[in-house]
Amino acid sequence: MTKRLFIRTYGCQMNVYDSDRMAEALALHGWQRVDEAEQADLVVLNTCHIREKAAEKVYSELGRLKRLRARRAAQGGELLLAVAGCVAQAEGEAMLERAPFVDLVVGPQAYHRLPELLARRARERGERIATDFPVESKFDHLPERSGPRGASAFLTVQEGCDKFCTFCVVPYTRGAEASRPVDAILAEARSLLAGGAKELVLLGQNVNAYHGEGPDGRSWSLARLLLALAELPGLARLRYTTSHPKDMSADLIAAHGSIPQLLPYLHLPVQSGSDRVLEAMNRGYTAADYRRIVERLRAVRPDLALSSDFIVGFPGEREEDFEATLRLVEEVGFVQAYSFKFSPRPGTPAASLRGQVAEPVKAERLARLQALLEAQTRAFNEATVGRTVEVLIEGPGRHPGQLAGRTPWQQTVTLEAQGLAPGDLALVTIVGCHAHSLAGRWAAGATAESRA
Ligand code: SAH
Ligand code: SF4
Ligand code: F3S
Repeated sequence: MTKRLFIRTYGCQMNVYDSDRMAEALALHGWQRVDEAEQADLVVLNTCHIREKAAEKVYSELGRLKRLRARRAAQGGELLLAVAGCVAQAEGEAMLERAPFVDLVVGPQAYHRLPELLARRARERGERIATDFPVESKFDHLPERSGPRGASAFLTVQEGCDKFCTFCVVPYTRGAEASRPVDAILAEARSLLAGGAKELVLLGQNVNAYHGEGPDGRSWSLARLLLALAELPGLARLRYTTSHPKDMSADLIAAHGSIPQLLPYLHLPVQSGSDRVLEAMNRGYTAADYRRIVERLRAVRPDLALSSDFIVGFPGEREEDFEATLRLVEEVGFVQAYSFKFSPRPGTPAASLRGQVAEPVKAERLARLQALLEAQTRAFNEATVGRTVEVLIEGPGRHPGQLAGRTPWQQTVTLEAQGLAPGDLALVTIVGCHAHSLAGRWAAGATAESRA
């Protein structure tokens, strides 16, 4: 009998990747993925702890699942509940106290054990918590990637973080920085490409700190890894995220000028434009350092578009600090960004700093910042109208008969185009600009040659 699995994913792209790998590991044990909790025998919540709101969402979802589970039991059935990801890691035992009906709690470094934990649970004698950081990597225990892929595939190359920004839980939930060996990454990349992927997105909490062991026994930088991946047949596009400005090394900057598949788009979170705030955040660079990195990148890749994350209302942030952020946003010309109000996280140094900023001030600053960022995004998108650009078709659009894809600058394009399919690279003329996407027109036959 097939068992049905539903996974709800919160948080970052690394959680999306982990959810896929959990599903693949469970598939070997007869679990088939379904689209709704209502249809499932096992629900996994793959959780995020980064901000208070993200963590609280998990508990409200658990409340809903508790009721679903009771209804199921009343009908003589069973629904298993597992919590994975960063809330599981951060709370462990406390999670079982607050939500005792949860069957299993598995951290981000222990989810390869899910099949075993479920089997033991079925025999009523299993442990319920796996949140250790094992000596052996989970990657050695997960099945190889196989099966069909979408046009764009995630590939985790690095995990954990040693930066200890004063606001952030990641060094605690994901553990110390660790890089996967080059050979394992190349093997996974080959199977993703064989499954139909055209774009690889390398993931890491601090991806440009990558220093995995190469086939020559030496430590390879991210730039070297990118060069090796770019040699793989069938690879049309390459990206990596998330990078830290401090680790934008000279060879990585140079790679942006020399690897044609590397897209002219980089997510490089700056967080703030004020040196005082950057210092209090323990980011390890100044606003001027960041500007210089951007200049060097644009010297080798003039069409590079940048995106960032921002935190407003960090403890001690004054109006003039915030204005420095607005200036930096304009100067760098970010085309996309995520911005957040500072959220004090238990156990992080910034949570107990003096000078916590009042909620209405945070809200007002966030609104101003987002208005500026949105205007820049719009201006950038409008400037694409009339141009003919390469679009990677990724899937169906919203309306029947429509397809959606992305430009090299990660703008979403929708178009009506019979004769194109996901995975195609097409030359598309941008004919319109909506709030969150561009409208494109494909001249039939204008398929961009795969650059690989
Ligand atoms: N490794 C990435 C960030 C991962 S977390 C980096 O160094 O940039 C994603 C984003 O969440 C961060 O960039 C930050 O902007 C935001 N964030 C993290 N902790 C936060 C907190 N306590 N309050 C508000 N935003 C936070
Ligand atoms: Fe968190 Fe800073 Fe590490 Fe990014 S670099 S994951 S913000 S500690
Ligand atoms: Fe969230 Fe963990 Fe990612 S806290 S942002 S899911 S690393």
